[in-house]
Amino acid sequence: MQVHNFEKIWLGVALLLIVGFIATIAYGSVGAGISMVDDSGGTISAQAVQSGETGTGFDDPGVVKQSDDHYVVYVVAQQFQFRPGSGDNPIRVPADARITFMVTSPDVVHGFSITETNINTMVIPGQVAEVSARFDEPGTYGLVCHEYCGAGHHTMGGSIEVVAPSNYTAQQQAVDGEVSA
Ligand code: CUA
Repeated sequence: MQVHNFEKIWLGVALLLIVGFIATIAYGSVGAGISMVDDSGGTISAQAVQSGETGTGFDDPGVVKQSDDHYVVYVVAQQFQFRPGSGDNPIRVPADARITFMVTSPDVVHGFSITETNINTMVIPGQVAEVSARFDEPGTYGLVCHEYCGAGHHTMGGSIEVVAPSNYTAQQQAVDGEVSA
């Protein structure tokens, strides 16, 4: 059987395309640092979150320092705000540290998406969504609820202030000073 040269060339191009497509899929699934949210956050009673009686960080949600390089942020997503995060209560974390967000809901399904990052998870009552990030640069990032959660869904947002590590300690001390004064 005789295969014409043009046909051989097109066969080669088609094979290259297939290999290229497989390569992009492989890179997108493992090379780009993308991972699915798993069930590592565990379960929790939505009623206890509502009444603040979980015996966990959700009873007084906010940033908890684990070490100089690791902070855990407990966030309650509820109709129609993030606690903390919404209004004049932004989440404040240092740059260049591992930040683990633990997010849960006392009422309905919400979304938890941080702009300019790949953090994006559903927040399901009774479950804790656990996602980690490292913010390289100080700045303000938007926080968005991207699951329809009721009449005020479009108003449900917030912000995350990422500050330089040196400033973070200083500002935390200032806040502590106010509390003890
Ligand atoms: Cu909460 Cu939409």
